[in-house]
Amino acid sequence: MSDYSHGGGGCFRCCCNFILTLGLTALFLWLSLRVTKPSCSIENFYLPPLNTTDNSTTTRNNHTLYFDLRLKNEMKDKGVGYGAINLTFFYGGAPNNNNNSLPIANYSVPSFYQGHGKKARRKELVQTYGVPWEAAYRAVSTGSTVTFRVRLVTRVRYKILFWYTKRHTLKVGANLDVNNYGEKVNKKGIRLKSGSPEHFHRLAPLGLSIVLYFLVLLL
Ligand SMILES: *[C@@H]1O[C@H](CO)[C@@H](O)[C@H](O)[C@H]1NC(C)=O
Ligand SMILES: *[C@@H]1O[C@H](CO)[C@@H](O)[C@H](O)[C@H]1NC(C)=O
Ligand SMILES: *[C@@H]1O[C@H](CO)[C@@H](O)[C@H](O)[C@H]1NC(C)=O
Ligand SMILES: *[C@@H]1O[C@H](CO)[C@@H](O)[C@H](O)[C@H]1NC(C)=O
Ligand SMILES: *[C@@H]1O[C@H](CO)[C@@H](O)[C@H](O)[C@H]1NC(C)=O
Ligand SMILES: *[C@@H]1O[C@H](CO)[C@@H](O)[C@H](O)[C@H]1NC(C)=O
Repeated sequence: MSDYSHGGGGCFRCCCNFILTLGLTALFLWLSLRVTKPSCSIENFYLPPLNTTDNSTTTRNNHTLYFDLRLKNEMKDKGVGYGAINLTFFYGGAPNNNNNSLPIANYSVPSFYQGHGKKARRKELVQTYGVPWEAAYRAVSTGSTVTFRVRLVTRVRYKILFWYTKRHTLKVGANLDVNNYGEKVNKKGIRLKSGSPEHFHRLAPLGLSIVLYFLVLLL
């Protein structure tokens, strides 16, 4: 009798160890497959015609936009492969004017790979079309700001150890309020955010399903 109960206890312990090992494996898998979207921000933004401290006609007629885009991979153990990064700039007029956003410029940053925890900057000039410069100039010179909008669309895939995940669409944007120096009002970088709720941990559902799979297997 005692032999029998002893054997039962051993089996129970063995089973417990098995469950624990599976649980830890699932947890480890979930932790190592978790990904965070890269952080994108506009550090600088300049439109020469709206710099009211510069009266020269060359500056007034210089419709070239300057921007400084910052991309950061915040993961310490995964790389990010960016596809072509498509940027679209819009003019939105003075904040109290319900002017519809008007596309004024496109720019495409070539695809590249970004290593663990790395930052990248893209400082570029892009020709603008169709900005109502007179209205915008009038607005900024009377102490208002004018709003521009930037939208970024790209496809990213994550490198985990030596393999890549499938591509995910990254779609983010932000409004940029520009003052009478032709620069964005906020000196700090403007973080580009997704319009819909962020799915920071894109692979969380996968991790969760692995955990559930093991649970179902055990019950
Ligand atoms: C705006 O114009 C002034 C006067 O020319 C110049 O000193 C300043 O650097 C310009 N601002 C920017 C951001 O280039
Ligand atoms: C630019 O023009 C304004 C008004 O026309 C004037 O007050 C200002 O001194 C001028 N600035 C420069 C740098 O010439
Ligand atoms: C036009 O403005 C850009 C900054 O937005 C500047 O880099 C460029 O040199 C200017 N071009 C001319 C011809 O002044
Ligand atoms: C807003 O749009 C209207 C009509 O398109 C235009 O008359 C006005 O100047 C615009 N305002 C600004 C600040 O650009
Ligand atoms: C931006 O690209 C779109 C699609 O390629 C095009 O229809 C539009 O005219 C472009 N706009 C500017 C300002 O270049
Ligand atoms: C970016 O633009 C290029 C050229 O217009 C297009 O082929 C590509 O599909 C765009 N990428 C995304 C993610 O929208």
